[in-house]
Formats: sequence, structure tokens, C-alpha cells
Amino acid sequence: MFAEPAERHVYVSVKVTPEEYYEKIAFATTKSGLWVVPEVGDMVEIYEIGRESYVARTPHNPPQEFDMPPLSEGDFCLKFNAETELMFSEQSDGSINLDVRADGNITLSATGETLDVVSAGDVNLTAASDSRVHVDGGDVVIGDEANAVGVAKADHTHPYVGGGDNSGSRTSGPPNEAGTTTLVE
Ligand SMILES: [Fe+2]
Repeated sequence: MFAEPAERHVYVSVKVTPEEYYEKIAFATTKSGLWVVPEVGDMVEIYEIGRESYVARTPHNPPQEFDMPPLSEGDFCLKFNAETELMFSEQSDGSINLDVRADGNITLSATGETLDVVSAGDVNLTAASDSRVHVDGGDVVIGDEANAVGVAKADHTHPYVGGGDNSGSRTSGPPNEAGTTTLVE
């Protein structure tokens, strides 16, 4: 089994009988752009798609050692090990949940302008250790953007009681430093 990125194909070599061996035939999947690299020992179907032209597809392997998740009609699960899966599952109200889990890292990357995380309800971020937000330029806004103000407020004063020639209740001037680009409502 080997992937040939230059040819955009995955190829397999399959022993059909002790005497019959197909060398380097394409491994077809259900969609252009979906690549699956079988493992040595996987059982696959061989199809003759033309005169002495073959493709392999669809592994027929014994079940994996990890548990199969509960699945209903129309559900789709791509599971790699006990902790790593991509799962679409229909809910009782007809909506479909998408669960993405990995026992390694999960990376979401956008090389375009925007990575949106949008929820009609709550967004919960839970971290067992540190959380960091890196912003190379622009503002970080927490809360209602229209009413947000800088965490280090630039436009405020403090009352204080002066002494000596300045005795009595007085009001400080605003801070010398400009506000930050982190804004909170
Ligand atoms: Fe202050």
C-alpha cells in the first residue's frame, strides 16, 4: 500500500490467489478528494473496470478491537482508535450532531481571512491548564463590542484627598498611558 501524492492516487498490490497477483492497482474511494490508505493485510474488493484494468476498494476487515459507538440509521462514523473519531449522528429532533475527538492534537486552520466559531447558544471553553489568545494585530473584545471599553481605561479620574497647599477633596487627571486594545464590556 502506498500513496502517490504526485499522482493523487493510493495504490495497493493484492494477492488474489497463490498464483494471481495484481501489482499497483488504484484504491478507489467513494469520493474524489477522499483518500484512504489501507493497511497491509486488509481485505479489499477487486473490480475489473476495463480489459485487464482493475481497481481495489472497500476494505472487508474483521471488526477493530475498540468498541463500535451506538449508531442509528443514516449515521456516519470514522473511527481510528478508541479516542479518535469523526461522527455524524442524527438526534431525536432530526438535527445532526457532529463530534470530533482525537487522542492527539486537533488543529483548525484558516488561511483565508476568517475562522468563525458561531453558536446559537453558549460557547464553552474548558482547559485543564493555561489558555492563551494570541492576536498579532487588532483588538480583543470581550462582551458587547458597541459598549466595550479598554481594560486599562484611559478616560477616567480618581477622587483623592490632597494635603498641604492642595488639601481637600480633589480629582486626579486621567492616566498618562493610552488604553489597551483589550476591551471588555
Ligand atoms: Fe486609575
